Parts: sequence; C-alpha cells; structure tokens
Amino acid sequence: MTTFFSDNVEGREEISPPEQAYTLGPLQAGPPCCTPEPVLSVNSLSLHYADKTALKNISLDIYRGCITALIGPSGCGKTSFLSALNRLSDLIPGCRVEGSVRFDGVDVRAADLDAQHLRRNIGMIFQKPTPFPLSIRRNIELPLREHGMNRQADLNERLQQVLQDVGLWEEVKDRLESPAQALSGGQQQRLCIARALALQPKVLLMDEPCSALDPLSSAVVEDLIKRLKGRYTIVIVTHNLAQARRIANYAGLFWMQEQGGRLIEFGRCQQIFDAPVHHLTAAYVNGQRG
Ligand SMILES: Nc1ncnc2c1ncn2[C@@H]1O[C@H](COP(=O)(O)OP(=O)(O)O)[C@@H](O)[C@H]1O
Ligand SMILES: [Mg+2]
Repeated sequence: MTTFFSDNVEGREEISPPEQAYTLGPLQAGPPCCTPEPVLSVNSLSLHYADKTALKNISLDIYRGCITALIGPSGCGKTSFLSALNRLSDLIPGCRVEGSVRFDGVDVRAADLDAQHLRRNIGMIFQKPTPFPLSIRRNIELPLREHGMNRQADLNERLQQVLQDVGLWEEVKDRLESPAQALSGGQQQRLCIARALALQPKVLLMDEPCSALDPLSSAVVEDLIKRLKGRYTIVIVTHNLAQARRIANYAGLFWMQEQGGRLIEFGRCQQIFDAPVHHLTAAYVNGQRG
C-alpha cells in the first residue's frame, strides 16, 4: 500500500518564502509558514466529463504551508481541479483524468492507492456548509470513529481541540448534543472546517468557502483561514479577488480556452495582482473580464 508520510521530496527550484505574516491565535504553534517546497505537484493534468473537456494540460506546484488561491470565471474548471487533487473525481460517473498529481512525492493516481487515506490527508470544504444531520459532537466524532478512534477520552480531547481551533468552542461547548444544522451558516462552515481538521490533514481544499455566507460570517471564516496558514497547506477557490489578495501567498488564474479550462498564469499573489504578465490576468484582476 502506498503511504503519504514521505518527506522525501525531489530537488525543486528554490523560491523564497512569502512576505505575508501570519498569526496563530489560539492554534497550537505549527511549523513556520510556507516552506519553499511543493507538497502537491501537478503535471499535464487534463480532466474530462464523458466527451467534454473541463481541464486541459494543467501544471503547477502547491507549496507547503501556503495559501494558494485559484481564481477565474465560472465554468473554467476550478472545482474539477480540486476534485482531481484528492480523487473525489473518482466518484463522478463518466469523469476521466489524465496526467500526474504527486502528493509528497507519491503518485495520487496510482491504482493501488487508498483513496480514503488520501482524502484524510487532503480534506475538502465545500461552498455550502455540509454538516451531517447529527449533533455537533457527532459531526466531529463520526469521521474519527470511522478512522479507528474509539476511546471517548481521545474523542473528547480532539473535539475540544478542533472546536477551539476554529473559534467555536466557547459558542457551542454547552450545546454539543444539539443539531449541527441549527447553527448559523458561518458556524456550520467553521464546524465543517473543524470536522476536516479533526482528521489532521496536511492539505485543505476550499471551494468558495465564504461565498454562501453573510459578510460578517464570511469575515470570521476568512480570518480562520488566515490563522490556519503555516500549519496547513490551503488551496482556496474564490471569486472574491479582494479576499484572494488579503489571504493568499500564490494565485493562479483559470480560463476557458479552446474548449477546455486552462491555467493562464500562476505566481506570487502580489505579482498576479500588481504585475500580471498575461493580458487575460490583467483584464480579470482589473474587473474588465470575467
Ligand atoms: N459532474 C459533471 N458532469 C458533467 N460536466 C460537469 C460536471 N461538473 C462540472 N462539469 C462541467 O465542467 C466544466 C467545469 O466545471 P467546474 O469545474 O465546476 O468549473 P468552476 O468550478 O470553475 O465553475 C463546466 O463546463 C461544467 O459544466
Ligand atoms: Mg466551482
């Protein structure tokens, strides 16, 4: 069985760490933010739904501990791209992927790879909060039990830790047995992030995690994402360019071209927004296209 804990990453082009500072808030201290080392390497990735091509020839590296923002108009393949990274794409009938995705040097697309283990390491947060129709406690405990944690003391400890990490503990500690779906939208999204964190992933994929939230909740979730930087590698799809600019270290613009979603430009966030090289990037970040 293929494993994921190899730190043995092949030699890579040196890049300096990003300028952006980060704060840990209530989180336990993690490793320093953003090492210049790819945790995910994508090469010549194409993705098709039956005879429709959603992504064509995408190559990029996702750097450890950094936030990478994927931007671009609707329909250019951003969600499809995320789904290929942790093989959620396997679950879509008719979906076919070509090319290579390596996670800590391991071939994600290998036939003998344990996809459940992969998704434990690369968690996904969706646009619409998706709590299970269970209590707050059971939302966190269920995946932990599925992955073999059964001692109640261990479950309690992990529950408190992740709810503190997402700033929910004080808000819900007296009603852990209440239905999760009674929480506000922003609280539900933070619970879903806590549920992903409970499995101690290395990477979090976030597909427009704030776009279904009111502005106040969106700001709270954005602040949380900033605080997770460094401790986790985050890939976030966002249509909110100001948000991408505020939180991301790297940014990539996707665009539909010649019947397929393409990566038009990828680089440091500041470069993409302030000194884009491609005319489509310039038009998109300036609000003239898209
Ligand atoms: N399950 C699916 N079956 C068929 N086509 C799909 C499916 N999901 C997405 N698509 C199509 O693939 C293209 C890319 O979609 P998507 O990855 O959702 O783009 P984005 O997230 O950038 O809006 C779109 O044309 C969309 O209609
Ligand atoms: Mg999408």
